[in-house]
Amino acid sequence: MQKQRLFIVSNRLPVSILEEGGSLKVLPSSGGLVTAVNSFVAMSGNAYKDISWVGVPGCSPASWMEASRQLPQTAFRYVPVMVFKEQYDHYYNGFANSTLWPLCHYFPSYAEYSEEDYLDYLQVNEHFAETLEQSCVAGDIVWIHDYHLLPLAARLRRSIPGLTIGFFLHIPFPSYELFRLMPRNWQQHLLEGMLGADLVGFHTMDYAAHFLQSVQMVLGLNHDRNIIRQKDRLVKVDVFPISIDYNKFSQAYDDIEVSTMRQKLQVQLQGRKLLFSVDRLDYSKGVHHRLKAYECFLKQYPEYRGKVVFVIVVVPSRDGIAKYAERKRMIDELISNINSQVGDITWQPVIYQYNALAFAEMVGLYTACDVALITPLRDGMNLVAKEFVASRADKRGVLVLSEMAGAARELSDALLINPNDTRELAGKIKEALEMDAEEQALRMVQMRSRIAHYTVKDWAEDFMSELQQIKVRQEQYQ
Ligand code: G6P
Repeated sequence: MQKQRLFIVSNRLPVSILEEGGSLKVLPSSGGLVTAVNSFVAMSGNAYKDISWVGVPGCSPASWMEASRQLPQTAFRYVPVMVFKEQYDHYYNGFANSTLWPLCHYFPSYAEYSEEDYLDYLQVNEHFAETLEQSCVAGDIVWIHDYHLLPLAARLRRSIPGLTIGFFLHIPFPSYELFRLMPRNWQQHLLEGMLGADLVGFHTMDYAAHFLQSVQMVLGLNHDRNIIRQKDRLVKVDVFPISIDYNKFSQAYDDIEVSTMRQKLQVQLQGRKLLFSVDRLDYSKGVHHRLKAYECFLKQYPEYRGKVVFVIVVVPSRDGIAKYAERKRMIDELISNINSQVGDITWQPVIYQYNALAFAEMVGLYTACDVALITPLRDGMNLVAKEFVASRADKRGVLVLSEMAGAARELSDALLINPNDTRELAGKIKEALEMDAEEQALRMVQMRSRIAHYTVKDWAEDFMSELQQIKVRQEQYQ
């Protein structure tokens, strides 16, 4: 079979360019999407004729020209989409992250409904379409990612009908009761936009079912075993739980940098037990609830005072949005209260870093901790949970995981909790700290085998092969 060209399309390119005091910094972008798609591209060898990654670089065209000389060598070509700052602000901080994000994460009271933001969201999608039109031709594959680009598939389909288009949503698709809160014409346009793809993918069956229900309620289209007949085309809706590069994490246990980090932590801990969490700054991650539960644990079980430390890492994100800045203040304040009121001069209950971690530091913490607390209020998947499990080549450590994370569907051997239940979470922290080595290993082995058998490569290959299959069915259908 002839190799095809592949265009990956996401809001963010895998590098972000920072303009700082006259000089430019090229930084790797963070977040589940970039991490997963990057691993897929690195592993896909020469399965495609060539690969391009289309996205917004977050700087001016002149800076991009200069920065592109310093970009790391990659298996793909960077294709920047240039957007004016003000328009980007309405699209990204506005519609994507102040309307869609809160609705999809079940925070309806945080959602704003601004016509201006919505129109700029459509305009930025138009810029993406125009950029793609300059390079794409019928027969190419376009793989569109995430909630920033819901209208793009249908828009591209209109100008280049012969494209193979896949769309994957990295966040939850909410229940229809949440989706319907948006003005009706927005609902219609966004759903029609997604149906411009040949294959629409979600992390879990619930998200796919919610989408199918919204399509039925808003557009009046039914499905037959997840296939929607739309005009002259078939659109398949299916589930592909995203994952990680299992070997990269599993093999890192003995890396020299990781072992050094682990030893440093062990010296610093002086025999205390270590709880660990890492998240992007986001109200959906439940950091505040987690800290409250930790405080409750220390009050309810005072025998643990002085014997545990909670290392909590928050990675800066979307700080241009008031709700995020407010969340940061709430977290800072609560940590300072816990440390000053529950701790004393010989023991600090919480150690807090507001910054990203390098890979070795992260795996050092994953492998040194006794308990990983991953307790989002709502999360599409949560790859941190999978990274933690994959890193534990020693089969030790306990995962406390929110049942509101997509990952809980696969990691049922974790200690599952409801993040709103402070007492339950406090109790599970104790149970995790007291779990014997045999039970830790039993649970870890189950979870590790689950992740080892469905890696990010399987996720992407499954998606791609189903995309090809639906194209074949479409041809038979016509
Ligand atoms: C989530 C979204 C991604 C996004 C990432 C980081 O994982 O699904 O699309 O890139 O968060 O957020 P940011 O707004 O910094 O790109």
